[in-house]
Amino acid sequence: MPDLSFETLKILPLARAETIPSSWYVDEGFHRLDRRLLFSDSWQYVGPASDLAEEGAYRADTVAGEPIVVVRDKENRLRAWYNVCRHRGGPLVTDTCGTARMLQCKYHGWTYKLDGSLRGVPRFDRTDLFDKRDFGLTPLQVTEWQGMVFVNLGRGGSIEETVRGITDRIAPLDLSQMRFERRDLYDVACNWKVYVDNYLEGYHLPIVHPELCDLLDYRNYVTETYPTYSLQYSPLQEGDNIYGTPSGDAFYYFVFPNLMLNILPHRLQVNRIVPVTRDRCRVIFDYYYVRGTDASMIKDDAEFSDRVQMEDVEICEHVQRGLESRAYDQGRFSADAEPGVYHFQCMLKAAYRTALEETTVDRA
Ligand code: FES
Ligand SMILES: [Fe+2]
Repeated sequence: MPDLSFETLKILPLARAETIPSSWYVDEGFHRLDRRLLFSDSWQYVGPASDLAEEGAYRADTVAGEPIVVVRDKENRLRAWYNVCRHRGGPLVTDTCGTARMLQCKYHGWTYKLDGSLRGVPRFDRTDLFDKRDFGLTPLQVTEWQGMVFVNLGRGGSIEETVRGITDRIAPLDLSQMRFERRDLYDVACNWKVYVDNYLEGYHLPIVHPELCDLLDYRNYVTETYPTYSLQYSPLQEGDNIYGTPSGDAFYYFVFPNLMLNILPHRLQVNRIVPVTRDRCRVIFDYYYVRGTDASMIKDDAEFSDRVQMEDVEICEHVQRGLESRAYDQGRFSADAEPGVYHFQCMLKAAYRTALEETTVDRA
């Protein structure tokens, strides 16, 4: 458990609150706490369900530092396990995605059926008291929502509890009608929380993204907060050509702790922020489009998003260095422009409080 006190976890109103201490972005102990507390017990986006439509299709990933694999079984159900063989810990799949009739460990070749049960065990005839039924793969919770696949290393529960209200709010836009187009990956030299903070405000737009800022009136952005997520919302201007879209609404959802859904009338971007080390994260950036979207529009959209993304990466890496500096510990919020960041940091404090209460009870 990192150095935490109930005093630091106190929640003050936005206009009086301080930002979270720099140690939360910098210390190894917080990195480990985040993994255990936040990422091991929440729904984590894996990818589009369309990639896992066929029997035997699989996708491997790392969630909260754990190797996992999701597979479509013979009964057309999604299944997920730790990507860890029960013999001596070998990997079942070593590539990111593919199709298999069964899963064969890449070490000594044990085979598992698509329901996770152990099937073939070479050269085990002389091993005593060994029952294959005791050595099935270790399962995880897996679910599908709006054409996207999520896993949960913890208690699970319905994903609807986390995303309740989103589909109704964006209707008639329908995420399940979007088609997966491509995935980009960005490795960023900052703690994952730096990247999330940055996503949650438009305050930096005039300085960091002058080109984007010329194209939209970010001051019209409204931030709404909900128990499990926040929304930055903006009506697109008539004739607005940022992304070549017709008029409509832009919705930028942040689902705690690390999922972003950027929704425009014709496209969805899904970002999952993956903590890698205390000062590195990876941004998984998936693009989905409405069927029939023009190829040139997709290309322009991806290029423009990539430019904006690189501007964010650069500033986030600078901020991480600032947070590491002895000159900085905590700051204040613009009550006008940073309610989303404040909301995220309050959710973080609430989660840390739970962990602290548990350790206090353990010690008592
Ligand atoms: S570790 Fe998998 S077969 Fe040996
Ligand atoms: Fe930005």
